[in-house]
Order: sequence, then C-alpha cells, then structure tokens
Amino acid sequence: MAKHTVITMPGDGIGNQVLPEALRVLKTVGFDAEYIHADIGWECWRNEGNALPDRTIDLLAKHTLGLFGAITSKPNKEAQAELKPELRGKSYVYYSPIVTMRQKFSLDICMRPCVAFEGNPLNYIRKRTDGKFDEPKIDTTVFRQNTEGMYAGIEWTNPPENVRGALASHAKFSGMMEETAKEVAKNYPGIALWSTNIDAQLMWLNKNPEDYNVIVASNLFGDILSDAFAGLVGGLGFAASGNIGDEVAVFEPTHGSAPKYAELNPPIVNPIAMILSAAMMLDHVGENMKAEQIRKAIAAVVRQGKVRTYDMMRLSGGSKAISQGAASTVQMTDAILEQLR
Ligand code: NAI
Ligand code: MG
Repeated sequence: MAKHTVITMPGDGIGNQVLPEALRVLKTVGFDAEYIHADIGWECWRNEGNALPDRTIDLLAKHTLGLFGAITSKPNKEAQAELKPELRGKSYVYYSPIVTMRQKFSLDICMRPCVAFEGNPLNYIRKRTDGKFDEPKIDTTVFRQNTEGMYAGIEWTNPPENVRGALASHAKFSGMMEETAKEVAKNYPGIALWSTNIDAQLMWLNKNPEDYNVIVASNLFGDILSDAFAGLVGGLGFAASGNIGDEVAVFEPTHGSAPKYAELNPPIVNPIAMILSAAMMLDHVGENMKAEQIRKAIAAVVRQGKVRTYDMMRLSGGSKAISQGAASTVQMTDAILEQLR
C-alpha cells in the first residue's frame, strides 16, 4: 500500500495540462503515493448543477490531501445560462467550487511563497542612482486568510441594521489578526513586526520588495498582494499556493484555468507554478528533502536559461509561441526531470 493518498483535481482548462506534469515530477522523486482522480469545475456545474460534487468532498474528507489544478468560474447569471437544459430553472445556484472547498474544510490559511529564481528574465530589477541596475533577492511568503471577509462569497449593499449590529458585536470582528501578531511577537524580539495599510504596502512592494519576508493579510488583500508579489518573480507561471486547514490541505497554483490557452496543442503554459505547489505538498507531509530536490531542479533549469516557456520569453501566448522558440509545457517538465535524474 502506498504511504500517501492524494486526491487529484485537474478541474478546467490548463488545470488539465499542468497537473499531470506535477505528477510526473512527484513520481520521479519517488514520492510514495496513490492518486485518486476527483471531479470539480465547470462540467460538473453544467451537468449536475454543482461545481463541487459531494463525491469529491467525501474523497477529500477521507484522504485529507489534495492537488488541484484550476477551475473556470463565472457570475451566477452566466452560469445559469450554461446549465444543461433539463437543469435550468430548477433553483440551482452557482458557487465557486474552490471558495466552497476552502470554507467547507476550513482551509483558513492560504500560504503563497513568492521567491525569485536566479536567472529568471522576468525578475524585478531596479535602477540605482548611478544608473546601473539592482536585482534584489525577493523571498516573500504571503499568508492570506482564506475563508472570511470580502472574499467569502457574501455580498451586501447597505446591510440591514440587525446584520450590522450582529457583526459589530462579534468578539473577533476586527483587529484579531493584529492583536495576535503583537502578542506572539513578544516572544521573538529579533523579528521586526509592523502593520501597514494595503495602499501603502503596494507602494512599498514596488519600491523595496526585498524588505518583506512574511506578510499576513486578510482574504481579499492577501489575494491581491500575492498576485502583485508574483508579478515581481515571474508572474503566475511561478506562483504556488497551499490551502491549509487543521485536517485537510489542498495545493494549487495561484493561476486560474486560462481558457484562451487551454485548447492549444501542444500546451504552452508554464507548469512551474503547479510543480512548486506539489513541492509545497511534499513539505506539508514531511517529505522536505524531496521538495527541496524539486526546487533545486527548477532553479537549475531557470538559471541555465536554455528551456523557457513563452511567458519567460515575454512572448504573447498564442499558437505561434512554439515556433518563436518557446518550450512547451511538457518540454519544461522534461528539463526539470532531467535535473532530477
Ligand atoms: P488566469 O490565471 O486563468 O489567467 C490569466 C493569464 O495569466 C493568462 O491569460 C496567462 O496570460 C497567464 N497565465 C496563467 N497561468 C499561466 C501559466 N501557468 N503559465 C503562463 N501564463 C499563465 O486568470 P483569468 O484569465 O482571470 O481567469 C480565467 C478563469 O480562471 C476564470 O474563469 C477565473 O474565474 C478562473 N480562476 C480560477 C482560479 C482557481 O482555480 N483558483 C484562480 C483565478 C482565476
Ligand atoms: Mg487570485
């Protein structure tokens, strides 16, 4: 029997292209796991009126470890129009399956490391006063609250007085994160702690991104900040994440299903974000050496610069990318596998 069971949820669009690549890498480093496919996403919504079927929830509840690609999400009105005809008008309501999954399993921590790989042509650079350029080493992990706040899937305009009152009377309604951080910081005098408003933080990250190692933020702000940091270290092709709860954890690239690239053959999108997410999963289950092996292999491929997907060449991602010299999704993984062998 395998040591681990992983629920694999490729989902929609490029999720189906990048997730199998991560599995090839996991096999090569000898991760001892059985993989069970689970359905999620747009086809489930269209055919069943539920983008996160109960059978998928049951598998996650039982095996507690998931790898997820990406889903396509649309506003409820558009979603209704795409339901198969016999399900229309039957009061099905569309909910984003990934938001539902985070809430269902209280995956309340979203961990998003944004680390610059040496030699990545997309890394942030900054002009110095002598006219030369600096390439600061960015190593930031954003911890995003993952289940509450403005991203919780509830929207109100002018909430009624009783709702407003109930929120205001809740003990954890505001300041909880900051108060806790201050309390914990007392035990770590060597680590500087400060709080910033989101507007100022975005300004500072453009100016001195290397000054930030750990950022803890609410759901919406954490989502915005982690994409913004990802932009300084190569973009969504490099942005990995883990949704972590007390029991269940699900690892996924930050990017979505990128439908405009989903039909290209061969696939051209960068699998590194997905592969880094798989490495985070290995860390989570205590296979840290294997995770480090994967990160080293990716670092070597990026440093050598011989194999680059279209995004790393600043090409527009159409069907011409390959003839313009970009590596395909599979070729990028092959290069990583070569480093691992
Ligand atoms: P997206 O992340 O799917 O794509 C935006 C752009 O980023 C792409 O057009 C492409 O230029 C680039 N990109 C994304 N992944 C890349 C990769 N691996 N390699 C190279 N370039 C990459 O975001 P978009 O277009 O806003 O949303 C598309 C769909 O995905 C929507 O239905 C949205 O709701 C959904 N979505 C799902 C998420 C999830 O599954 N957790 C997260 C974000 C969006
Ligand atoms: Mg996002």
